[in-house]
Amino acid sequence: MTEPIVSSPQNGGAAAGGGDSNAVEIRKLWTVFKSPGREPQVVHKDLDLDIHRGEVLSLVGGSGTGKTVLLRQILGLEKPTRGEVSVFGAPPMELSAAGAAKVGMLFQRGALFSAFNVLDNIAFALRELKVLPDELIRDAAMVRLQMVGLGPEHAHKMPSALSGGMIKRVALARALIMDAPLLLLDEPTAGLDPESADDFCDLLRSLHRELGLTVVMVTHDLDTLFDLSTRIAVLADQHVVVTGTAAEVMAHPHPFIQKYFLGGRGQRAAQALHQPPSVSGR
Ligand SMILES: Nc1ncnc2c1ncn2[C@@H]1O[C@H](COP(=O)(O)OP(=O)(O)O)[C@@H](O)[C@H]1O
Ligand SMILES: [Mg+2]
Repeated sequence: MTEPIVSSPQNGGAAAGGGDSNAVEIRKLWTVFKSPGREPQVVHKDLDLDIHRGEVLSLVGGSGTGKTVLLRQILGLEKPTRGEVSVFGAPPMELSAAGAAKVGMLFQRGALFSAFNVLDNIAFALRELKVLPDELIRDAAMVRLQMVGLGPEHAHKMPSALSGGMIKRVALARALIMDAPLLLLDEPTAGLDPESADDFCDLLRSLHRELGLTVVMVTHDLDTLFDLSTRIAVLADQHVVVTGTAAEVMAHPHPFIQKYFLGGRGQRAAQALHQPPSVSGR
Protein backbone atom coordinates (compact mmCIF):
# COMPACT_ATOMS: atom_id res chain seq x y z
CA MET A 1 0.00 0.00 0.00
CA THR A 2 2.98 2.33 0.09
CA GLU A 3 2.95 4.90 -2.65
CA PRO A 4 5.55 4.82 -5.40
CA ILE A 5 8.29 7.37 -5.08
CA VAL A 6 8.57 9.14 -8.37
CA SER A 7 10.74 12.12 -7.57
CA SER A 8 14.15 12.68 -8.97
CA PRO A 9 16.45 13.61 -6.12
CA GLN A 10 18.04 16.42 -8.10
CA ASN A 11 16.26 19.47 -9.32
CA GLY A 12 14.29 20.16 -6.13
CA GLY A 13 10.67 21.19 -6.21
CA ALA A 14 10.17 21.48 -9.91
CA ALA A 15 10.58 17.81 -10.61
CA ALA A 16 9.45 16.40 -7.28
CA GLY A 17 6.73 13.86 -7.89
CA GLY A 18 3.31 14.44 -9.41
CA GLY A 19 3.74 18.13 -10.24
CA ASP A 20 0.57 20.18 -10.35
CA SER A 21 -1.77 17.67 -8.77
CA ASN A 22 -0.04 17.77 -5.40
CA ALA A 23 -0.24 20.64 -2.93
CA VAL A 24 2.39 19.07 -0.69
CA GLU A 25 5.10 16.51 -1.34
CA ILE A 26 7.20 15.06 1.44
CA ARG A 27 10.13 12.81 0.59
CA LYS A 28 12.38 10.81 2.89
CA LEU A 29 11.82 13.15 5.79
CA TRP A 30 13.68 12.61 9.06
CA THR A 31 13.14 14.49 12.29
CA VAL A 32 15.58 13.84 15.09
CA PHE A 33 15.54 15.77 18.37
CA LYS A 34 18.76 15.84 20.35
CA SER A 35 19.02 16.94 23.93
CA PRO A 36 22.17 16.83 26.08
CA GLY A 37 22.73 13.61 27.99
CA ARG A 38 19.92 11.75 26.22
CA GLU A 39 19.61 9.40 23.28
CA PRO A 40 18.55 11.25 20.13
CA GLN A 41 14.79 10.93 19.62
CA VAL A 42 13.87 9.85 16.10
CA VAL A 43 10.35 11.17 15.50
CA HIS A 44 10.16 10.73 11.71
CA LYS A 45 12.24 8.33 9.65
CA ASP A 46 12.05 8.11 5.84
CA LEU A 47 8.55 9.57 5.86
CA ASP A 48 6.88 10.02 2.45
CA LEU A 49 3.53 11.75 1.92
CA ASP A 50 1.67 13.37 -0.97
CA ILE A 51 -1.24 15.69 -0.33
CA HIS A 52 -3.41 16.20 -3.38
CA ARG A 53 -4.79 19.57 -4.33
CA GLY A 54 -8.35 20.07 -3.13
CA GLU A 55 -8.51 17.10 -0.80
CA VAL A 56 -9.13 16.86 2.92
CA LEU A 57 -6.34 14.64 4.17
CA SER A 58 -6.57 13.52 7.77
CA LEU A 59 -3.45 12.56 9.64
CA VAL A 60 -3.92 10.08 12.45
CA GLY A 61 -1.44 8.47 14.80
CA GLY A 62 -0.81 7.89 18.48
CA SER A 63 0.09 10.71 20.85
CA GLY A 64 3.67 11.89 20.36
CA THR A 65 4.09 10.34 16.90
CA GLY A 66 4.99 13.72 15.40
CA LYS A 67 1.77 14.94 13.82
CA THR A 68 2.06 18.51 15.10
CA VAL A 69 5.75 18.62 14.20
CA LEU A 70 4.90 17.53 10.65
CA LEU A 71 2.29 20.31 10.31
CA ARG A 72 4.85 22.84 11.58
CA GLN A 73 7.30 21.59 8.96
CA ILE A 74 4.69 22.02 6.20
CA LEU A 75 4.02 25.53 7.52
CA GLY A 76 7.74 26.30 7.45
CA LEU A 77 8.07 26.92 11.19
CA GLU A 78 10.44 23.97 11.62
CA LYS A 79 13.06 22.44 9.41
CA PRO A 80 13.29 18.67 9.11
CA THR A 81 16.63 17.07 10.02
CA ARG A 82 16.79 15.53 6.57
CA GLY A 83 14.59 15.11 3.49
CA GLU A 84 12.40 17.31 1.32
CA VAL A 85 9.17 19.16 1.93
CA SER A 86 7.64 21.03 -0.96
CA VAL A 87 4.49 23.14 -0.80
CA PHE A 88 3.08 24.13 -4.19
CA GLY A 89 6.47 23.28 -5.65
CA ALA A 90 8.66 25.28 -3.27
CA PRO A 91 10.24 24.75 0.15
CA PRO A 92 7.84 26.10 2.81
CA MET A 93 10.57 28.17 4.46
CA GLU A 94 10.92 30.15 1.24
CA LEU A 95 7.16 30.67 1.05
CA SER A 96 6.96 32.18 4.50
CA ALA A 97 10.11 34.23 3.99
CA ALA A 98 8.54 35.82 0.93
CA GLY A 99 5.31 36.50 2.82
CA ALA A 100 3.55 34.56 0.11
CA ALA A 101 1.05 33.16 2.61
CA LYS A 102 0.27 29.89 0.92
CA VAL A 103 -0.52 28.12 4.17
CA GLY A 104 -2.91 28.95 7.02
CA MET A 105 -2.89 27.05 10.28
CA LEU A 106 -5.36 26.47 13.08
CA PHE A 107 -3.10 25.64 16.03
CA GLN A 108 -3.85 22.83 18.45
CA ARG A 109 -5.08 24.98 21.32
CA GLY A 110 -6.75 27.71 19.34
CA ALA A 111 -4.22 30.11 20.83
CA LEU A 112 -5.76 33.55 20.41
CA PHE A 113 -3.89 36.58 21.72
CA SER A 114 -5.69 37.20 25.00
CA ALA A 115 -4.95 40.94 24.99
CA PHE A 116 -6.48 41.46 21.51
CA ASN A 117 -10.16 41.50 20.69
CA VAL A 118 -11.68 39.17 18.10
CA LEU A 119 -11.22 41.51 15.15
CA ASP A 120 -7.59 42.30 15.99
CA ASN A 121 -6.85 38.60 16.41
CA ILE A 122 -8.26 37.85 12.96
CA ALA A 123 -6.46 40.82 11.39
CA PHE A 124 -3.09 40.04 12.97
CA ALA A 125 -1.17 38.52 10.03
CA LEU A 126 -2.50 41.06 7.54
CA ARG A 127 -1.50 43.91 9.82
CA GLU A 128 1.99 42.44 10.22
CA LEU A 129 2.50 42.73 6.46
CA LYS A 130 2.23 46.51 6.83
CA VAL A 131 1.05 47.05 3.27
CA LEU A 132 -2.70 47.67 3.52
CA PRO A 133 -4.54 50.63 5.06
CA ASP A 134 -6.24 49.80 8.34
CA GLU A 135 -9.72 50.30 6.96
CA LEU A 136 -9.21 47.56 4.37
CA ILE A 137 -7.72 45.25 6.97
CA ARG A 138 -10.76 45.71 9.20
CA ASP A 139 -13.09 44.99 6.31
CA ALA A 140 -11.15 41.85 5.44
CA ALA A 141 -11.30 40.69 9.07
CA MET A 142 -15.07 41.35 9.22
CA VAL A 143 -15.56 39.24 6.10
CA ARG A 144 -13.65 36.33 7.72
CA LEU A 145 -15.74 36.72 10.88
CA GLN A 146 -18.86 36.31 8.80
CA MET A 147 -17.34 33.37 6.90
CA VAL A 148 -16.94 31.42 10.13
CA GLY A 149 -20.54 32.05 11.10
CA LEU A 150 -20.08 34.80 13.69
CA GLY A 151 -22.02 38.06 13.59
CA PRO A 152 -20.43 41.55 13.74
CA GLU A 153 -21.56 41.87 17.37
CA HIS A 154 -18.66 39.55 18.31
CA ALA A 155 -15.96 41.69 16.68
CA HIS A 156 -15.02 43.66 19.78
CA LYS A 157 -15.27 40.87 22.35
CA MET A 158 -12.17 39.67 24.14
CA PRO A 159 -11.18 35.98 23.89
CA SER A 160 -12.00 35.42 27.58
CA ALA A 161 -15.65 36.19 26.79
CA LEU A 162 -15.93 33.49 24.11
CA SER A 163 -17.07 29.87 24.31
CA GLY A 164 -14.74 27.06 23.19
CA GLY A 165 -16.57 26.73 19.89
CA MET A 166 -16.34 30.47 19.24
CA ILE A 167 -12.60 30.49 20.00
CA LYS A 168 -12.10 27.77 17.37
CA ARG A 169 -14.11 29.81 14.88
CA VAL A 170 -12.09 32.96 15.50
CA ALA A 171 -8.86 30.94 15.23
CA LEU A 172 -10.15 29.58 11.92
CA ALA A 173 -11.01 33.08 10.69
CA ARG A 174 -7.46 34.12 11.57
CA ALA A 175 -6.07 31.17 9.59
CA LEU A 176 -8.19 32.28 6.60
CA ILE A 177 -7.19 35.96 6.59
CA MET A 178 -4.42 35.62 3.97
CA ASP A 179 -6.56 33.60 1.52
CA ALA A 180 -4.04 30.77 1.72
CA PRO A 181 -4.99 27.84 -0.53
CA LEU A 182 -3.69 25.29 1.99
CA LEU A 183 -5.22 25.06 5.46
CA LEU A 184 -3.66 23.03 8.29
CA LEU A 185 -5.88 22.07 11.21
CA ASP A 186 -4.38 20.62 14.38
CA GLU A 187 -7.12 18.79 16.29
CA PRO A 188 -9.82 21.31 15.33
CA THR A 189 -12.61 19.66 17.32
CA ALA A 190 -10.64 18.60 20.41
CA GLY A 191 -12.19 19.92 23.60
CA LEU A 192 -15.52 20.79 21.98
CA ASP A 193 -18.79 19.21 23.10
CA PRO A 194 -20.32 16.88 20.47
CA GLU A 195 -22.80 19.46 19.21
CA SER A 196 -20.18 22.20 18.79
CA ALA A 197 -17.83 19.69 17.15
CA ASP A 198 -20.60 18.74 14.72
CA ASP A 199 -21.26 22.40 13.89
CA PHE A 200 -17.56 23.03 13.40
CA CYS A 201 -17.34 20.07 11.00
CA ASP A 202 -20.26 21.48 9.00
CA LEU A 203 -18.45 24.82 8.81
CA LEU A 204 -15.21 23.20 7.68
CA ARG A 205 -17.05 21.17 5.06
CA SER A 206 -18.74 24.20 3.54
CA LEU A 207 -15.59 26.33 3.62
CA HIS A 208 -13.63 23.54 1.97
CA ARG A 209 -16.23 23.34 -0.78
CA GLU A 210 -16.74 27.06 -1.30
CA LEU A 211 -13.11 28.12 -1.16
CA GLY A 212 -11.67 25.10 -2.96
CA LEU A 213 -9.09 24.66 -0.20
CA THR A 214 -6.66 21.84 0.35
CA VAL A 215 -7.00 20.80 3.98
CA VAL A 216 -4.65 18.77 6.16
CA MET A 217 -6.21 17.86 9.47
CA VAL A 218 -4.87 16.09 12.53
CA THR A 219 -7.70 14.58 14.52
CA HIS A 220 -8.34 11.95 17.17
CA ASP A 221 -12.07 12.24 16.76
CA LEU A 222 -13.37 9.43 14.57
CA ASP A 223 -16.60 11.26 13.81
CA THR A 224 -14.67 14.26 12.51
CA LEU A 225 -12.38 11.91 10.62
CA PHE A 226 -15.12 10.05 8.78
CA ASP A 227 -17.22 13.20 8.33
CA LEU A 228 -14.63 15.24 6.51
CA SER A 229 -11.74 13.21 5.10
CA THR A 230 -11.18 12.51 1.44
CA ARG A 231 -8.22 10.35 2.43
CA ILE A 232 -6.55 9.29 5.64
CA ALA A 233 -2.82 8.93 6.31
CA VAL A 234 -1.68 6.88 9.29
CA LEU A 235 1.51 7.81 11.11
CA ALA A 236 3.16 4.91 12.98
CA ASP A 237 6.66 3.48 13.36
CA GLN A 238 8.10 6.93 12.47
CA HIS A 239 6.54 7.06 8.99
CA VAL A 240 3.27 7.03 7.05
CA VAL A 241 2.32 3.35 6.98
CA VAL A 242 -0.72 3.73 4.71
CA THR A 243 -2.62 6.45 2.86
CA GLY A 244 -6.04 5.86 1.36
CA THR A 245 -9.78 6.04 1.75
CA ALA A 246 -11.23 5.06 5.10
CA ALA A 247 -12.07 1.61 3.79
CA GLU A 248 -8.57 1.13 2.38
CA VAL A 249 -6.91 2.26 5.58
CA MET A 250 -9.09 0.09 7.78
CA ALA A 251 -8.18 -2.97 5.74
CA HIS A 252 -4.50 -2.48 6.62
CA PRO A 253 -3.19 -5.03 9.14
CA HIS A 254 -0.98 -2.67 11.18
CA PRO A 255 -1.80 -3.23 14.87
CA PHE A 256 -2.26 0.49 15.57
CA ILE A 257 -4.85 0.71 12.79
CA GLN A 258 -6.70 -2.39 13.89
CA LYS A 259 -6.87 -1.13 17.47
CA TYR A 260 -7.71 2.45 16.54
CA PHE A 261 -10.43 1.83 13.99
CA LEU A 262 -11.80 -1.54 14.95
CA GLY A 263 -11.66 -1.28 18.73
CA GLY A 264 -14.82 -0.38 20.64
CA ARG A 265 -15.22 3.25 19.63
CA GLY A 266 -14.17 2.54 16.06
CA GLN A 267 -17.13 0.24 15.45
CA ARG A 268 -19.70 3.01 15.58
CA ALA A 269 -17.72 5.26 13.28
CA ALA A 270 -17.13 2.37 10.86
CA GLN A 271 -20.87 1.81 10.63
CA ALA A 272 -21.30 5.46 9.72
CA LEU A 273 -19.04 4.73 6.75
CA HIS A 274 -21.87 2.84 5.12
CA GLN A 275 -24.17 5.84 5.27
CA PRO A 276 -23.98 9.05 3.25
CA PRO A 277 -21.88 11.62 5.18
CA SER A 278 -24.78 14.00 5.63
CA VAL A 279 -26.76 11.54 7.73
CA SER A 280 -23.90 10.00 9.69
CA GLY A 281 -24.95 10.91 13.21
CA ARG A 282 -22.82 11.27 16.28
N1 LIG B 1 11.10 21.38 19.60
C1 LIG B 1 11.17 20.14 20.11
N2 LIG B 1 12.27 19.72 20.77
C2 LIG B 1 12.35 18.47 21.27
N3 LIG B 1 11.39 17.55 21.15
C3 LIG B 1 10.27 17.90 20.50
C4 LIG B 1 10.09 19.21 19.95
N4 LIG B 1 8.87 19.28 19.36
C5 LIG B 1 8.32 18.06 19.54
N5 LIG B 1 9.14 17.23 20.22
C6 LIG B 1 8.87 15.83 20.54
O1 LIG B 1 8.52 15.15 19.35
C7 LIG B 1 7.50 14.20 19.57
C8 LIG B 1 6.33 14.45 18.65
O2 LIG B 1 5.66 15.62 19.06
P1 LIG B 1 4.29 16.10 18.41
O3 LIG B 1 4.46 16.33 16.97
O4 LIG B 1 3.82 17.26 19.22
O5 LIG B 1 3.35 14.83 18.66
P2 LIG B 1 1.79 14.64 18.28
O6 LIG B 1 1.74 13.53 17.28
O7 LIG B 1 1.13 14.22 19.57
O8 LIG B 1 1.28 15.94 17.76
C9 LIG B 1 7.15 14.30 21.05
O9 LIG B 1 7.85 13.28 21.75
C10 LIG B 1 7.66 15.65 21.44
O10 LIG B 1 8.01 15.68 22.79
MG1 LIG C 1 -0.11 17.33 18.41
